Amino acid sequence: MDIAERIERSPALDGVVRSLSEGVVRALPAGPRADALHGVPFGQPAHPALVRLPLGCWTSAALLDLFPGTERAAQTLIAAGIASSVPATATGLADWSALHRHQQRVGLVHAASGACAATLFSASLIARLTGFSKAGKVLSASGLTAATVGGYLGGHLALRLGAGASHAEPIGHLAGLGWHDLCPIDDLPDGRPVRRQLGYLSLFVLRRGPEVSVLADHCAHLGGPLHQGRVVSDADGASTDGDCVICPWHGSTFRVSDGSVVHGPATARQPSFRCQITETGMVQLQPRTLDRRARRRRSASRPRSPR
Ligand code: FES
Repeated sequence: MDIAERIERSPALDGVVRSLSEGVVRALPAGPRADALHGVPFGQPAHPALVRLPLGCWTSAALLDLFPGTERAAQTLIAAGIASSVPATATGLADWSALHRHQQRVGLVHAASGACAATLFSASLIARLTGFSKAGKVLSASGLTAATVGGYLGGHLALRLGAGASHAEPIGHLAGLGWHDLCPIDDLPDGRPVRRQLGYLSLFVLRRGPEVSVLADHCAHLGGPLHQGRVVSDADGASTDGDCVICPWHGSTFRVSDGSVVHGPATARQPSFRCQITETGMVQLQPRTLDRRARRRRSASRPRSPR
């Protein structure tokens, strides 16, 4: 078991994780500010992009220290790295507060390494500005080591534990070609979401009178069961985006018509299906991810009555 896996399984961190995470959730209620920090307007988590700025600046500064006559440039890079670590930290904390506990343990040590790096580079800048250039270089090298440990844990968090990746089913690969029969429309309750299975796929299905909307059931954020979520609509005054479903785990909100993200922490669109009802009342589905040519081929080969 490597060090990252040990951290993942260590309940000793849970006290700190709980208090810090509650503090972040209190300070950052759901809304436009939280959505911006998660990266909802960009359709991608913002933290991985922003964290490159301090890492790039600090790595460059440490490399410049190997060459004579680069003191001024190294100072500028260190200062730029410290300034850019502020938004990187804010976005990271927002994402971290909506993770599972074992992910939060790794995230806590990842954040502590980043804080340690920022502190060491700040001390390095002060040392350089007060004439202790040699001490400044040693502090920079130590800061880069701390940042590298943080980067290793960040990689484990994102790539092994899947924080930031979409957890929705890859419907384009799992749903076969052509329209698929789901069930008779009369088998679906009106106005209440249910889960239905299509081969390997779990689906969130919502019927509103003669209309049926279908999304992948596993939430894109961390795989929560959307069919257990709350549906809000224009009619009850809780939404201005048409029918939306709120994930029961961390509150990501998706439009049921097309799976687009209304509120984070999810940033990836929830995969959705086109639906039609046949003359015999059978609900049929087709993934929206198909390319245009494949869709044309299918509709040419399977004429259906439009809903
Ligand atoms: S699993 Fe986190 S919001 Fe759905």
